[in-house]
Amino acid sequence: MSQVDQVGDGIYRISMFNPQIGITFNQFLIDDDQPALIHTGTHHMFDDVYAAISKVLDPKTLKYVIVPHFEADECGGMGRFVKEAKDSTLVCSEVGAAVNLSGWDYVGPVKGVRDGDKIDLGKHRLRFLETPHVHHWDSMMLMDETTQSLFPADLFLQPGDQPHTVSENLGKEMCGLYRTVGIFGGREPVLQVVDRVEKMNFKRIHPMHGGSLVEEVLPKYYDALRKERFWYDGRIFGRSLVS
Ligand SMILES: [Fe+2]
Ligand SMILES: [Fe+2]
Repeated sequence: MSQVDQVGDGIYRISMFNPQIGITFNQFLIDDDQPALIHTGTHHMFDDVYAAISKVLDPKTLKYVIVPHFEADECGGMGRFVKEAKDSTLVCSEVGAAVNLSGWDYVGPVKGVRDGDKIDLGKHRLRFLETPHVHHWDSMMLMDETTQSLFPADLFLQPGDQPHTVSENLGKEMCGLYRTVGIFGGREPVLQVVDRVEKMNFKRIHPMHGGSLVEEVLPKYYDALRKERFWYDGRIFGRSLVS
């Protein structure tokens, strides 16, 4: 059962801890004139995420279902959420729409976005950042200009059943998990995004796994990514592929 917590003005974290994998799976809901869901959870999580959204607003009133990259935990529920909410549109990167969605069995409306594109939700204004090769070719992140916060999907995650807000430095644990699991192919695309993100002076970062990071601790996470090995070292989910 997902837990719902408010983590910003009109921003809700819908979180489920998976003890087998040892991380939380978070979706974010922005309650506004045009409500938006940021990542959907897997196909199997749909009923749970739907019920959690219902505690805040009617899921049928969602206007945007935003998918930062095409992987099951980010997009598995997209077709059902868009089908339920008749006026909703799926938002993903233009690259994601071309290389993934165009060959999927998805039939609803879609909006492909590029770096700098914006969507007005009412009080909140979202701006998209293309972040290719940060985990996936089609990867994008989004910021909410209104609350000066970032939704980075899998970047800045923390392992464990974290509270909704985190001020602890778990940078080493973050990099350790990335190394073991092997989700980043290389260093450069990630560090370019870290440099860009640092200059944007965010007040909050809302990762998909772990808790939302407060402003004061953000430099520790930037530092960890600059100093620790986090990219693929021959292991996938701890299994060694390179001898
Ligand atoms: Fe992912
Ligand atoms: Fe994820």
